[in-house]
Amino acid sequence: LNLEVSSQNLSPLLSQCDHERLGIWFEEKFQEAISRAYDAQNGLDDVIHYILSGPGKRVRAKLCILTAKAFGATRESALIPAFALEFVHAYSLVHDDLPCMDNDDWRRGRPTAHKKFGEAQALLGGDAILADAFAIVSGKSRVALPTELPAHTLLGLSRELATAIGSNGMVLGQILDLYWTGKGQFDRKALDNIHLLKTGHLIGAAFSMGAVAADENLLVQEKLRQAGLAVGLAFQIKDDLLDDSPETGKSVGKDQATGKLTYSSVMSTAEALVMAEEHTAAAIENLHSLSFKNISAGEELVSFVRQLLNRKR
Ligand code: IPE
Ligand code: IPE
Ligand code: MG
Ligand code: MG
Ligand code: MG
Repeated sequence: LNLEVSSQNLSPLLSQCDHERLGIWFEEKFQEAISRAYDAQNGLDDVIHYILSGPGKRVRAKLCILTAKAFGATRESALIPAFALEFVHAYSLVHDDLPCMDNDDWRRGRPTAHKKFGEAQALLGGDAILADAFAIVSGKSRVALPTELPAHTLLGLSRELATAIGSNGMVLGQILDLYWTGKGQFDRKALDNIHLLKTGHLIGAAFSMGAVAADENLLVQEKLRQAGLAVGLAFQIKDDLLDDSPETGKSVGKDQATGKLTYSSVMSTAEALVMAEEHTAAAIENLHSLSFKNISAGEELVSFVRQLLNRKR
């Protein structure tokens, strides 16, 4: 019996269980927190609860918690940034789906927020959770926070989150995405820039916020952000490739029908997969260039990053 081979075969299975366990743990904390916080009968909390409780994969939360753990923090101390990341991500999806943007009817296997509650309610529900995300990372929130973090950590988290999603980050990416939609021009350079901005920056923040939660210095935060940008680019390439899959819980073939500038529109599936693999490999190399404080947690992070390439939804 070749033990080396058999343990190699086993390790992806084992680590998958670890990620699943972390996912279940996070989901329980998240659902409990939002159910307690958003229970007023005021026409807004229902929308917010609907937006946040949908079955998302919680990729950004998991990346943040795994990063924090790899650099010596507990998973509890990463819950504040992980909650805030999922709030911001959920807001971005609600606005992304609006008729004035991608005009989508389906999200996470359910009607989009504006289909269910109306456009103004969806818009405002998104606005509310964007603001509430910053309440969370400032340490005072309607959402019961499981830990207390020192002021310099909260400030670092706010900085990382705000810079990732504003006028030089996610929102700029969304504007450029809309600009190129239906143009019939397939500009590779514009494409990478859009993907980095609209998706890469928030995933970059998941890593840098994990570093902040672990009290790592600015240099480590920056290196992790760079690794996260590459993970984010690979993630969006894969998202483009999943446009024709019914398993995502989104409308099938929507990017193609509306003429989105995506990886599927500029190259073959096989070529796009190679690009996603290259960015993932670069990210992992970047991660391995840092010294993990908790080596098994670091390897868990690396294996989760690798698994994102093979996701089906
Ligand atoms: C979809 O993100 C939109 C992108 C930025 C690619 P996810 O694939 O993480 O969506 P959920 O949260 O699992 O629904
Ligand atoms: C969404 O990109 C990016 C953000 C929400 C910032 P997409 O428009 O490709 O995401 P999906 O496919 O609707 O989830
Ligand atoms: Mg979009
Ligand atoms: Mg969309
Ligand atoms: Mg998409």
